Amino acid sequence: MRNRTLAIIKPDAVSKNVIGEIVSMITQAGFKISGMKLIKISRQQAGVFYEIHKDRPFYEELLDYMSSGPIVPIAIEKENAVEDYRKLIGATDPQKAAEGTVRKLYGQSLAFNAVHGSDSDENAAIETAFFFSHSELVDNIR
Ligand code: CDP
Ligand code: MG
Repeated sequence: MRNRTLAIIKPDAVSKNVIGEIVSMITQAGFKISGMKLIKISRQQAGVFYEIHKDRPFYEELLDYMSSGPIVPIAIEKENAVEDYRKLIGATDPQKAAEGTVRKLYGQSLAFNAVHGSDSDENAAIETAFFFSHSELVDNIR
């Protein structure tokens, strides 16, 4: 089934100037872009986005990181989008990520790992709606 997921190019990758390289990996893998923007979010907005992790020990550091500079949320779609995009980015820890994955190529540490990817269709819908209103999304799904 063709579906959507949310990618985010995180502040470390934006400051490394590799937005184009990462977008290219995403489109080369067969994803269509339905929405994309360069924005900076507040620490409070980051807290809402990552609410699911609020009890984890890395939460405060994660909020500092995600609000430290511009990010690029990208709504993307493809058959099996959630799983295939997670395969493309690799394991959370860049050192454990497979060769050729986005995190292996551009991540620097478990915390600063270059990109985000939704982990389920349900969260993909919630996370996409966090960054994009309905009218900001192009519907490639048909
Ligand atoms: O991003 P992913 O879904 O692969 O991992 P997560 O477990 O949902 O964690 C969200 C984000 O928190 C990661 O992408 C890392 O940036 C950060 N994190 C961390 O700093 N330390 C950890 N032990 C786990 C995650
Ligand atoms: Mg996650």
